[in-house]
Amino acid sequence: MSRDLRMDGVLRPPEITFTFAGQPISARQGETIAMALWVAGQKALRNSSKDGAPRGVLCNMGICYECLVRIEGAPVRACMVLATEGLNVEPGGKS
Ligand code: FES
Repeated sequence: MSRDLRMDGVLRPPEITFTFAGQPISARQGETIAMALWVAGQKALRNSSKDGAPRGVLCNMGICYECLVRIEGAPVRACMVLATEGLNVEPGGKS
């Protein structure tokens, strides 16, 4: 889905696309992976190792580690990393 640069009188940064679990996700330059996924309706980013329950953004400021995803196999906090064009993001797995 394409969003206008000017929406409700607000000038928005250019749109980029990255993937989450192989699915294309639209974002704006300067948005974190977490917020881009939230806007796209993707709230579950990994599963709990205890009971497999879906986990996602909780604090949105890098403290809780509930938003772990993987980039090139490495775990990262989705709320602390900016989305960039062509980035391949995978769910964080169980942790
Ligand atoms: S939501 Fe808490 S560290 Fe990302």
